[in-house]
Amino acid sequence: MLSGRHIVLGVSGGVAAYKAAYLARRLVDAGAQVRTVMTDSATRFLGVQTLAAITGSTPVVGLFAATDVSPHTTLARWADVVVVAPATAATLSRIATGLSEDALTATALAAWGKPVVLAPAMHTEMWEHPATQRTMTTLRSDGYLVVGPATGALAGGDEGIGRMVEPEEIVAAVEAALAPGDLGGWQVVVSAGGTREAIDPVRYLGNRSSGRMGNAVAEAAAQRGAEVTLVTTAGAVEQRRVTVVVVDTAEEMAAAVWKAAAEADVAVLAAAVADFRPADPAAGKLRRADGPPHIVLEPTPDILAGVAKMSPRPFLVGFAAETGSLDEAVVKARRKGVDLLVANDVTRAGSGFGTDTNEVALITPDGVVEPWPLLTKRQVADRLWDRVAAMRGAAP
Ligand code: PMT
Repeated sequence: MLSGRHIVLGVSGGVAAYKAAYLARRLVDAGAQVRTVMTDSATRFLGVQTLAAITGSTPVVGLFAATDVSPHTTLARWADVVVVAPATAATLSRIATGLSEDALTATALAAWGKPVVLAPAMHTEMWEHPATQRTMTTLRSDGYLVVGPATGALAGGDEGIGRMVEPEEIVAAVEAALAPGDLGGWQVVVSAGGTREAIDPVRYLGNRSSGRMGNAVAEAAAQRGAEVTLVTTAGAVEQRRVTVVVVDTAEEMAAAVWKAAAEADVAVLAAAVADFRPADPAAGKLRRADGPPHIVLEPTPDILAGVAKMSPRPFLVGFAAETGSLDEAVVKARRKGVDLLVANDVTRAGSGFGTDTNEVALITPDGVVEPWPLLTKRQVADRLWDRVAAMRGAAP
């Protein structure tokens, strides 16, 4: 898919710059023509000569050093896609505010109208800072494609969110950016996160879902051209073409999903929904002094069953969280009226709740089980959309 495509790789100054060399190599190996642009500080982390040797073209560093009178517009016009990896907090902020004082930022701005993929990399505190989060909100709503960051080892021996995603995932994001619109015209509803069912005004019955799996499904669909309604209990996704509906309980999620599903072409229900809720939540906080409460549970609405019953109904993808064997998921795939079921064993390392990765098996209603390897949740999402597109056909 990347063969013959023109890719401008922008490298800004962070430790993850060393991975940009490997990324350049992967892009070249995939048949792409790659040109590079570096910030001054990036050259302290990665040699200009290294990128030149890999890509066969000398990186542009600085707006005035090149022989070209306008290196940024030349690069931007040449590019089919621009990818900035690593994208530091400063570079992201400059792109978001249009402060095009270096060749990389100027190229990113000059490429307006073309896909620009950003792979953030920074320390956790910098990523979580409200300034960075404001920047990301702006960038996403301006249509920039953001991949990562991941959670893992950071510079200086620290650990946390902020690590640049691996080059393979950036390559996948570049491929997706170049093939936008295969879901164009589709209306999609995705559920994400774990519902919370009140015990009293303070406590709830909940589960460990972080919303990452559903968010990845929603993000991938939007980046491929779909109009997405994301019904979630977890942090909102700031992404063009994603309308976020924040809910708390299974009842609220059911109402929002059913409303969107009535108009949708595809529904992907990745949320972990409580099957039972306290029948009579206490009006005031339960007191320890009163002893252990007797909590009577009642069933919540079965959201998936409600969508399966619709006529006409959207193409329906359910998820199944299992602990151990996937035999029960095969039964669910047959019984629940879905077109596809994505099963994950949430007890496996790197799989299920709260992780950046997932190891799933795709199950069809006739009981065919297709195990996938351990992938990032974004890769699972993209593969899932590939499959749904193949099963439904391209037309909405
Ligand atoms: O959010 P993350 O931290 O990234 O974790 C991802 C995940 C583990 C939550 C996700 O991959 C997953 O497995 N989601 C489904 C969890 C679940 O509730 O499985 P289940 O087997 O209990 O439910 C089967 C299906 O019925 C699901 O599509 C669920 O959304 C749906 N359901 C369940 C109960 C209910 N009352 N209504 C429903 O629609």
